[in-house]
Amino acid sequence: MLTEPAPAKLNLALHVRRRREDGYHELETLFAFVADGDAVTLGEGQGFAVNGPFAAALLGEDDNLVTRAAARFAQVFDLPVPGRITLTKRLPVASGLGGGSADAAATLRLLARHHGIALDDPRLFDCADALGSDVPACLYSRTAIGRGRGEQLVPVAGAPGTPVLLVNPGVAVSTAEVFRRWDGIDRGTLREGDLLAAARAGRNDLEPPALAIAPVIGEVLELLGAQPGATLARMSGSGATCFALFDSLAARTSATEAVRGAQPGWWCLETVLL
Ligand code: C5P
Repeated sequence: MLTEPAPAKLNLALHVRRRREDGYHELETLFAFVADGDAVTLGEGQGFAVNGPFAAALLGEDDNLVTRAAARFAQVFDLPVPGRITLTKRLPVASGLGGGSADAAATLRLLARHHGIALDDPRLFDCADALGSDVPACLYSRTAIGRGRGEQLVPVAGAPGTPVLLVNPGVAVSTAEVFRRWDGIDRGTLREGDLLAAARAGRNDLEPPALAIAPVIGEVLELLGAQPGATLARMSGSGATCFALFDSLAARTSATEAVRGAQPGWWCLETVLL
């Protein structure tokens, strides 16, 4: 049995710069990853299985990013899928945490490890790029600036160990729909330098369109931003998950208690930046 973690992705900042001819948007984003997420396991047998707290959202679906990643790997490398792939789904789906992208990337790493293929093999990057805009970033799961659709990656120094609280109010929002509602105004580039300073000076341009679809996101941001010790509260990706960074583990613990007390139905995950 081989297991590969699929860390959740955060966009510490996400600047939408331009709508492109191909329907995608030109981005500048600060990708970061956290210590928790989904996992994929290669075991005996064949086919695909899913378990974990959010498995129900994927049950009965033959076509998901894990099976697509395995099929593409098999085709590009002309190698068989050597067993049964099980996905442990711990992250909410369609939630801005790149769960599906991280699962696809972890599947590529898992199969590459099994077959002795190096992680920097350009064919692996091409597989990732074809599977989705966030999959290349998830393939390396390293703090990076992403440009283009998000696939042009420049690694930057991270802030490992920074306490993070993730909160999702239980609404799924469509990424395509959120991008479609972006107002088309370029609000400028990312600041360079220290990661957390650059993140704080930046923004997520998808917050206003996501809030128009799911106003509850505004409540999440307000609650997170009001917590003592929160140094940044922002939506990740196209939402609806929001995150807060904290200056201490104790501040994060207090914030989690406050959010759980105020909104027992919301999903919360305490973690740290990788
Ligand atoms: O690449 P991915 O399949 O994850 O993207 C989902 C949708 O999000 C795309 O179909 C597109 O509508 C939108 N998108 C975008 N610009 C990006 C990334 C995604 O418009 N840079």
